[in-house]
Amino acid sequence: MLALIVLLASLLSLTRGSAPNKRESSIRPIILEKSGGFVAGGKTISNPRLPSMTLSCDHGYMEYFIPWKPRRTSLVMWHSATTQAFQNRWDGGEGYKDMFLRRRYPVYLWDGPRVGRANWACDEYSYVPFYQDQGNFAAWNFGPSYPNFWPGVQFPTEDEEAWQQATSSRYVEFDTTENIHMQSQAAAVAADSGRLGGSIVYIANSASGLRAQMTVVKSNTTNIKAIVAYEGYGCVFPDTANITAGSPFGPMIVPLEDFKKLAKLKAIQFVWGDHRDESYPLLRQTRQAAQIINQYGGNAEVFFLAKDGGLNGSTHSAFADMDNDKVADLLEGFLEKNGLDGYPTETRDDSGNSDEEWRQWDYN
Ligand SMILES: *[C@@H]1O[C@H](CO)[C@@H](O)[C@H](O)[C@H]1NC(C)=O
Ligand SMILES: *[C@@H]1O[C@H](CO)[C@@H](O)[C@H](O)[C@H]1NC(C)=O
Ligand SMILES: *[C@@H]1O[C@H](CO)[C@@H](O)[C@H](O)[C@H]1NC(C)=O
Repeated sequence: MLALIVLLASLLSLTRGSAPNKRESSIRPIILEKSGGFVAGGKTISNPRLPSMTLSCDHGYMEYFIPWKPRRTSLVMWHSATTQAFQNRWDGGEGYKDMFLRRRYPVYLWDGPRVGRANWACDEYSYVPFYQDQGNFAAWNFGPSYPNFWPGVQFPTEDEEAWQQATSSRYVEFDTTENIHMQSQAAAVAADSGRLGGSIVYIANSASGLRAQMTVVKSNTTNIKAIVAYEGYGCVFPDTANITAGSPFGPMIVPLEDFKKLAKLKAIQFVWGDHRDESYPLLRQTRQAAQIINQYGGNAEVFFLAKDGGLNGSTHSAFADMDNDKVADLLEGFLEKNGLDGYPTETRDDSGNSDEEWRQWDYN
């Protein structure tokens, strides 16, 4: 018994005073203080033939998971065509949602207006099946063309169920300028409402990278602190730059004064996986946007998972890749570097030493 106590004491003293290492955070249980959901934004329209009959529509839907004794920064995971990609790794293993709950970040899963659980639209729309499976394969950078995987790709290439899950768990994205405005307006209402706290980081992928930038432009508070866009498709530019607007993946042009909000964020990181050449137009957009953001005093960077992060074989959605624990470590490093990993002072005051308390969980 005494030996056990001594052993425990020495284990505790080894880690005392330093942040829990990555292995410790991966074996931590997920303990939630609470979870739930709410809608944000949208409008109420009247039936033209019977104005007393109304429809509340075009809002977004936010699901939240708040860990016990959470950090201060909320991570809003935003994909404009699937929330599933943030919930699990390609093979069904642990996804970003659980990884960052273990690391005690509040996690929010966002469906913008008209998609996912927010498809109560104010306008009529039609759906036409568009035979997208093979196109998905190449668009998500699993390989040059279906069914040829890139060598070394971080996807379980022999697992047919994984491919079936990836290509099925989707919803229509609505890649229109109107939808970019509608989704970012609702997201800005959510950000400004205070319900996500005063320190928000968007974890975006593909088309939601552009929507997250537009959300910053539309927000009237300083609650949004950073954006990490995995293969973000499309960027926002000031009307003073010699850049022509495009669709559906930008560029979006906004007044210079609004654009400057992007330069006030603590950081913006445009993350790219493998097989993306400097000539790739969407990569070029992120380079150009980062340069202009920094010109106005901002802190934006283009980050290659291979060259800068030492991770090879990354797909279009690296947070779901087979090495997503390493991709998550890079994100954790980014949050630390930008002072976004802290705890509210009240948490420390409440418990005396919350880190100490957590170590008990780690070793029990
Ligand atoms: C920010 O303020 C402007 C001007 O009052 C308003 O039009 C806009 O809707 C506000 N944005 C949000 C997200 O509430
Ligand atoms: C603006 O961009 C176009 C196309 O790249 C170029 O031809 C033109 O010279 C540029 N104008 C200025 C004022 O830089
Ligand atoms: C990983 O990618 C880097 C940069 O593209 C390359 O230099 C390196 O050889 C690759 N390593 C492996 C093991 O493929």
